[in-house]
Amino acid sequence: MKNEAALQNVAEKLVEYASEGTTFKTDKITTVPYAAYTDKDIWQKEVDNIFKKLPLCLATTAELKEINSYKAMEAIGLPILMTRGKDGKVRAFLNVCAHRGAPVANNGCGQKSRFTCKYHGWTYTNTGALMGVSEQKTFGEIKKESRGLRELPCEEKAGLIFVILTPGEHMELNDFMAGMLEDLEKANFKDWAYLGKREIEGANWKIAFDGYLEGYHFSQLHPETIHPRTISNLTHYEAFGPHMRIGFAQTEIKEKLESQPKESWGKMENNGFDFVRILFPNVSIFLAPEITQIAQLFPGETPDKNKTILNFYRKSPPKDDEDKAGLEGMMDFLKMVVLEEDYMIGDLIQKGLESGAHESIILGQNERGNQFFHECLAWYIGGDKNIPKPTL
Ligand code: FES
Ligand SMILES: [Fe+2]
Repeated sequence: MKNEAALQNVAEKLVEYASEGTTFKTDKITTVPYAAYTDKDIWQKEVDNIFKKLPLCLATTAELKEINSYKAMEAIGLPILMTRGKDGKVRAFLNVCAHRGAPVANNGCGQKSRFTCKYHGWTYTNTGALMGVSEQKTFGEIKKESRGLRELPCEEKAGLIFVILTPGEHMELNDFMAGMLEDLEKANFKDWAYLGKREIEGANWKIAFDGYLEGYHFSQLHPETIHPRTISNLTHYEAFGPHMRIGFAQTEIKEKLESQPKESWGKMENNGFDFVRILFPNVSIFLAPEITQIAQLFPGETPDKNKTILNFYRKSPPKDDEDKAGLEGMMDFLKMVVLEEDYMIGDLIQKGLESGAHESIILGQNERGNQFFHECLAWYIGGDKNIPKPTL
């Protein structure tokens, strides 16, 4: 109920902004130096102090639903294997054989209770223990207990699977999430179906991520795709720790909401207004009944590149071939919008910033989400916990 009241409050704000032709506004204009998007040392600090230190949402329950399911992937160049054991628990490992370093699983999802390295055939259980050394008679005796897969901190919550990419780090997921996952818990996201993914590449990961944090660009950059559904430059921001819930008003917000009692507005997500939920540092969730998109953004091999995985979900799996074809079409469409509209301009921005035309970009009073994101980045990179955390 508490959450519903909070959503109703956002809906009221969005209607108010729509009536007054305004948006969430903060009292300051801020800048971000170009170097934040081009400098190798800054990029390295982001990788070391943020991507290797904070819980990252690397997978969803929908991808590892069954006992003995697994998912292998690369994240910031690290080979990762996530498994669901017989005990139902999800674990994460570096996907690296203890013998001479080959991966024990190919990238992708599937069902396996044990993994055989394809180089010399050593085998591991899905809890990471080394079970078998091929032709041990000739290889010699080793302490198998100390040669299991290297485990990473991992926790599953609200249908999302979080991993810290450094062995031995302490995971305080509840503290870190700061109430951000209540919405997904209420929506029973853990029971939803995984539909598929699309992978794309683009400019610096923050140039790309900045585009998920505001609606100021909708009318100009997305006149035919997003703008027909969503009003441009009309957002409401709420923060949960470093994470954000961003409310967007649909073009028909007033007609849809004002025809219903205010007390029901908290239940009207996707019917007059939508949310993009941002999990710091790199995930954006657009929850919608027809298709839900979870975008994971990772720094690429150099500061000027990112890798993005767009994952798609629905409450129920495809009913039949026609339904499946329709969903594939929607996934292609959403990929097209991100790639040909947002990431296309991102590549041009990267060139622009590398030209040194100015020293910094500038973020307006209406771009508070972007300001907050960059403040949180600076706070985590600085690592000085005596400084208070940024607030919205
Ligand atoms: S590297 Fe895995 S068995 Fe040799
Ligand atoms: Fe966009």
